[in-house]
Amino acid sequence: MSKQDSHFFNNFSLVLGILFAVTICLFAFARHVGAEHQGAQVTNDPRYLASVKERLQPVDRVAVAGQDNSALKIESVGPATAGPALPADGTAAYNMACTACHGSGIAGAPKVGDKAAWAPRVAQGKDTLYKHAIEGFNGKTGVMPAKGGQTAWPDDLVKQAVDHMLELNN
Ligand code: HEC
Repeated sequence: MSKQDSHFFNNFSLVLGILFAVTICLFAFARHVGAEHQGAQVTNDPRYLASVKERLQPVDRVAVAGQDNSALKIESVGPATAGPALPADGTAAYNMACTACHGSGIAGAPKVGDKAAWAPRVAQGKDTLYKHAIEGFNGKTGVMPAKGGQTAWPDDLVKQAVDHMLELNN
């Protein structure tokens, strides 16, 4: 190899190296910015807030005598309108209500399978996990809505969903 060639290759490798380092810095910077701002943006998204608000609505509404109660009119009666069927078991319940947040770890929810995120929670004991899942929980990383928003579900079903989530961690 001529001297000129090796000079070229040295410079070329140097430039490649610098570009590579810049890439890594940009990546690290993006991760850093994302870690600080992404979660906050997700929780402040009006669509997200609206969906949480909708899911936290009480399941019952009260008709008041002497006021316009037409919004509460019962459209039709019969078994066909018995409301959405309950999921059959904890797995189905998890898939219906919990995976939205816990499947991908959205909005500060501990992601299933992320052992590090779950370890301190599991250490609290199952009763605390059940209680937080059923009553809702405003913790350090975000807000866990009561029963994942499915306030009409029986407590036992939510407990089964918690059990299923814990199984997925194994
Ligand atoms: C709207 C998003 C959302 C949904 C839906 C949701 N969770 Fe959560 N959940 C969270 C967040 C956020 C946390 C973490 C709260 C914290 O520690 O700051 C959490 C935490 C938990 C915890 C840990 C509580 C603790 O003490 O550390 C359990 C158990 C749990 N959720 C169960 C469930 C179950 C069961 C469902 C479905 C019935 C469900 N979650 C649905 C957002 C959600």
